[in-house]
Amino acid sequence: MNVLVTGGAGYIGGHMVLALRDAGLKPVVFDNLSTGFRWSVPEDVPLVVGDVGDYELVLQTLKAHSIDAIVHFAAKLVVPESVRDPLGYYLNNTVKSRSLLAAAVAAGIKTFVFSSTAAVYGNASDKPLAEDAPLAPLSPYGSSKQLTEVMLRDVAAVHDMRFVAIRYFNVAGADPAMRHGQSTANATHLIKVAVQTALGMRPSMDIYGTDYPTPDGTCIRDYIHVTDLIAAHMQALDYLRKGGESIVVNCGYGHGYSVSEVIDTVRKVSGRPIEARIAPRRAGDPATIVADSARIRARLEWQPRYDDLATIVDHTLRWEGMLRERNLKL
Ligand code: UFG
Repeated sequence: MNVLVTGGAGYIGGHMVLALRDAGLKPVVFDNLSTGFRWSVPEDVPLVVGDVGDYELVLQTLKAHSIDAIVHFAAKLVVPESVRDPLGYYLNNTVKSRSLLAAAVAAGIKTFVFSSTAAVYGNASDKPLAEDAPLAPLSPYGSSKQLTEVMLRDVAAVHDMRFVAIRYFNVAGADPAMRHGQSTANATHLIKVAVQTALGMRPSMDIYGTDYPTPDGTCIRDYIHVTDLIAAHMQALDYLRKGGESIVVNCGYGHGYSVSEVIDTVRKVSGRPIEARIAPRRAGDPATIVADSARIRARLEWQPRYDDLATIVDHTLRWEGMLRERNLKL
């Protein structure tokens, strides 16, 4: 199977490329290198440098590489940035996905796996969120992804295409064999920021809000290991290959940690102090987002292997060490 991986030079897409290769499938990376890195694409994997909104280039690539399936990661993904730049997010995540879908339909692609997000739910509940919970995104990021889910649903209704949309909860960690990890410049995600602070790469970090309706007042998230998330994508491809109908699934473990608990875990695993300062709330942050993961476990037979915050932190720390060792620029 030949699989087009949009955003395959990035953090999560790069792990997908390795998983496809490990499984004997053929990934082709399509990436504009805006946040991804050429060096992270293995030499034996074709890399097309281009924009998913470039209809002609996408169509040509789908045909030239006889692509059977698309796994669509390419997106902007920083919640507060989307609040500041809504139109940029709708262009990048929604309008360009529409163009990609049009090229996919024109090329007769039947299998599509989409990176969606738990940010589509908004502040719906403090209980684990099932896929049929009301959608009320608090940020343009969440809305931009929700709109793509809607397009996929409507396209699949009339064209010969089936899809799995995977709503990611908070992804962290790195390949346990340290072949890949998050190398994003100026990363904003909590575990990465805490790890960099523990390693002395940042003097201190901020805790955005301690007055949320949670036990310690800081936001709660369901942190999942990137390798488990990628396993879900591989299961999704398999599910669709066996004729499974289009579905939307959550990908999270089903339990959460507060910002303070995460920072404490990074302190413990790294054995280093972290100066964490209390700061005002950040725009677009829901208090609690935890997955009800019953559907993905049942329908995709997903069985996570790294459901342990200390392991996720340990792998993030080791990857950061690798980046330094190899002197790779962030
Ligand atoms: N946080 C801090 N300090 C920091 C960084 C983050 O306190 O330096 C807090 C945030 O305010 C939030 C929590 O840590 O309460 C998690 O924030 P992240 O930036 O790590 O992640 P988000 O929850 O904002 O968003 C991530 C992904 C989205 C995905 C979402 C699903 O970026 O793509 O998780 O829950 F949709």
